[in-house]
Formats: sequence, structure tokens, C-alpha cells
Amino acid sequence: MTDDLEYHKVCELDDVWEGEMELFDVGENEVLIIHSPGMELRAYSPICPHQEFSLFDGELENCVLTCSAHLWQFDVLSGEGVNPTGTSLTSYPIKVEDEAIWVAFPENDKDS
Ligand code: FES
Repeated sequence: MTDDLEYHKVCELDDVWEGEMELFDVGENEVLIIHSPGMELRAYSPICPHQEFSLFDGELENCVLTCSAHLWQFDVLSGEGVNPTGTSLTSYPIKVEDEAIWVAFPENDKDS
């Protein structure tokens, strides 16, 4: 399904503990890695879809990420807006390999 994507190593698996999120630079990309309760890993653009504030300044509580700017909330498992609905985060394919977290940036890999 996503096997033809080019994955980039972001960090070690232990770098993002359960219930936490961390921001990483990967080449020209920034990626927000979220380790939600239940050991689910997700990778998102850190840019809020509302007015482009950094979601890394927000608060992660259980599976809901609240943007610090205007308090929009997102379900971090689905990436969908909770309040308001009808919006969503930009997600990136993520995988765990060799005890590390790898992410692909499909829109940037087309010409590489
Ligand atoms: Fe995130 Fe407005 S910029 S809620």
C-alpha cells in the first residue's frame, strides 16, 4: 500500500514516550510524532489547519490535541477535527523498524 514510499528516520522509538508528542526536523520537513495511550503512533504536520500556528505548542490529553492558539481540537488517532468537525490534520505515513520511527513525506518525494 505504502511500500513504494521513501521513509526517513525520525528518531528512536524511545524518544517519544506514551502519552507524549515531540517535534522533529527531517530534512526540509517538520513532523509531529504523537505516541498516544495504547501505543499508537501517528505522524502529522505540526501546522494547525486553522491559522497555521504550531500544534507543538498545544496540549495532548489522552487522544485529543488542543491547539494553543484558538483551542481547536483534533482526534490524534484519526487526525479528524473534534471541535470543530469538518477539518483534519495533515498526516504522514509512519512505521516502526529497528526500534526507530520512520516517516514518509509523499508530496516531497515525487521528484527524488
Ligand atoms: Fe490552531 Fe487557530 S491556529 S486553532
